[in-house]
Amino acid sequence: MLILVVYFITLPALTSKVVSGETPMDEKTQTFISSRVVRTKYGDIRGFIVTPESRYLEPVEVFRGVPYASPPVGSLRFMPPVSGAQWSGVKIAEEFSPVCPQVLPDIRNETAVLKRISRGRLEYLKRILPFLTNQSEDCLYLNIYAPAQAGVRDAVARYPVLVFVHGESYEWSSGNPYDGTVLASHAGLVVVTINYRLGILGFLNPRSDEFPRSPANYGLMDQIAALHWIKENVAVFGGDPTNVTLMGHGTGAACVHFLLTSLAVPEGLLFHRAILMSGSGLSPWSLVADPNKFAAIVATHANCSPELTPPLLLRCLRE
Ligand SMILES: *[C@@H]1O[C@H](CO)[C@@H](O)[C@H](O)[C@H]1NC(C)=O
Ligand SMILES: *[C@@H]1O[C@H](CO)[C@@H](O)[C@H](O)[C@H]1NC(C)=O
Ligand SMILES: *[C@@H]1O[C@H](CO)[C@@H](O)[C@H](O)[C@H]1NC(C)=O
Repeated sequence: MLILVVYFITLPALTSKVVSGETPMDEKTQTFISSRVVRTKYGDIRGFIVTPESRYLEPVEVFRGVPYASPPVGSLRFMPPVSGAQWSGVKIAEEFSPVCPQVLPDIRNETAVLKRISRGRLEYLKRILPFLTNQSEDCLYLNIYAPAQAGVRDAVARYPVLVFVHGESYEWSSGNPYDGTVLASHAGLVVVTINYRLGILGFLNPRSDEFPRSPANYGLMDQIAALHWIKENVAVFGGDPTNVTLMGHGTGAACVHFLLTSLAVPEGLLFHRAILMSGSGLSPWSLVADPNKFAAIVATHANCSPELTPPLLLRCLRE
């Protein structure tokens, strides 16, 4: 297993080229509904072709909002992820899924914000936050950016796969803002960005039984579920399931480190290389110092019924 640790200040370009939901799609961004239907184990799906503005870059086939597990709602809230259901018909994968419930940083008062963070970070937040307003507990989806097969049907192009695990303190963000188009085209990779449960819904350890158990960490389990889905399905998108690199940034890098060392992840089965950017499981912020303190917080919130809608539940547990 090759492990590469890289330190960046922030992730580079967020080149988001938003497409309209119309068909035929916007001429100027050179975006067209794909002519081929991809058959996953769970159902058929049709993406769209994006031609990057640079003439040195080949077109990329993009699939947004692909479900990799059952929606973790109702009785599946605070439960490990469950395999998704099969669907019939062709799913058109042109819209991002909602992001997982999260409380976004408040950047309205720039004067106040700039006392705490740099101008560069503020500009980054301004670019990323618009992607994070559509929230739902039904959020276990991923996005795929694959070099377009240029009309060659049944071409067996086996591109290496790069799976990106986003950061931002286990509490907010999503894979959606990270556009893998240019990376997929330039490097000849199938790039996958994932959403996983965050904050209380993803990382709270309720420790509801008397005996201490291993932490719940449903967010990490979601990441493992996404990797299983990718292993099962990435070949039909042109990706090589035996050549998967897991790349995390910030707390995402810590997650990747946890998956590297977790007994729940059979070595060499789900991913084969790892890239940790600006963080690891050894970073002082990567673990809570006193999990029991959090268990105590939950114990004092017995009135926070899991039946509450996500915003009310999050508010209740924060009070
Ligand atoms: C939010 O996501 C849902 C489900 O994908 C979609 O139906 C809805 O149009 C989205 N709303 C906005 C404002 O983007
Ligand atoms: C913004 O923050 C600054 C500094 O904290 C404060 O003086 C100012 O009153 C705030 N402005 C608004 C509109 O809240
Ligand atoms: C994975 O892909 C990279 C880049 O194409 C290649 O150098 C490497 O040999 C591949 N590894 C395996 C095990 O196929």
